[in-house]
Amino acid sequence: MSKSTIEGSEQRHTAIARLTLSSAEREELTGLVDEALTGPQALPVEHQLGRLAVLAHRLPERVRETLTEFRLTGRPYGGLVLAGLPLDESALGPTPASYSEVTDRPELHRATALLALLASLLGDPFSFLSQQKGQLFLDVFPVTQHENDQLGSSSAVELDWHNEDAFHEDRADWIMLLCLRNHDLVPTTFATTEALPLDAETVRTLFARRFVILPDESHTASFNQATTGVTDDAMQQLAFDLIADLNTGKHQIPILTGDPQAPMIRIDPAFMQRDLGDEEAERAQQVLIDTFARRMTDVPLTTGELLVVDNKRAVHGRRPFKARYDGTDRWLRRTNITADLRRTEGRRGGSHGRAVV
Ligand SMILES: [Fe+2]
Repeated sequence: MSKSTIEGSEQRHTAIARLTLSSAEREELTGLVDEALTGPQALPVEHQLGRLAVLAHRLPERVRETLTEFRLTGRPYGGLVLAGLPLDESALGPTPASYSEVTDRPELHRATALLALLASLLGDPFSFLSQQKGQLFLDVFPVTQHENDQLGSSSAVELDWHNEDAFHEDRADWIMLLCLRNHDLVPTTFATTEALPLDAETVRTLFARRFVILPDESHTASFNQATTGVTDDAMQQLAFDLIADLNTGKHQIPILTGDPQAPMIRIDPAFMQRDLGDEEAERAQQVLIDTFARRMTDVPLTTGELLVVDNKRAVHGRRPFKARYDGTDRWLRRTNITADLRRTEGRRGGSHGRAVV
């Protein structure tokens, strides 16, 4: 069996690239966040995304260089950490225990502005109407009823590695995870598609439209009803209809696309059909899952650290941990970023116009 050109060593995948801001850069960033959140134009971040995209042109030069290089070349491959962002953990308030408990503290607006500014260097933040009412900036913290689920709000079980919203055609090109609090250094897990050691036949199979990924529970109408509630918005209903249709399992997709040397990936083992009635596809899928399982690395984020993930060339997950529900648990704020808002024109709603059906 011949080996494909994307074969390579797994030894390189041990650490993620980091850029740590200097104190002068932190000050520059603090000034920009102040400007975004004060003055006559001050509106909630969700309603001034255009203005924040303009302010992003004045982010510290090293940050602009790093994220522009990442956007244009995909390097560092799959993702990086920006460290030393200006966030005051003591001003955030306690980690919420439910979605209704997320407070309105000024420091949380600062976290959101930071995310929006940095996201604007890669593309544009967007959300899904089928998830938390299309909220653009989503909080990740443990919820007691979800302890053992395959959701970001679980804790007692490993959150299996995945691409974010892998089931969706319009899934994010990149995601940003900003750490607000993580006293226990609970690791986020991370791995890329760089130099996957796969044979040519397996690669060929993975490039074929022979696989099925079902939506995760957070996009269903029933989950929304139980957490953030649903609206009577007709577009939101369309979004839930789409989720229900995808849940039928009749849509076949390829797992790998693009350049075989640096393939884009669409994978979420916890929600993929294993019984495909196609032995070759089942074998290739399992080989790829086993390959990723061996190359996952741990990225323990702390307050003010931002993990940027190329959602089409890397996967992420989370190690299990013991949640305390006492206001000190791990807490991240995240957003989805698209390289091309235009592809979803006519299919977006929400008060900010960025929530995709
Ligand atoms: Fe995720």
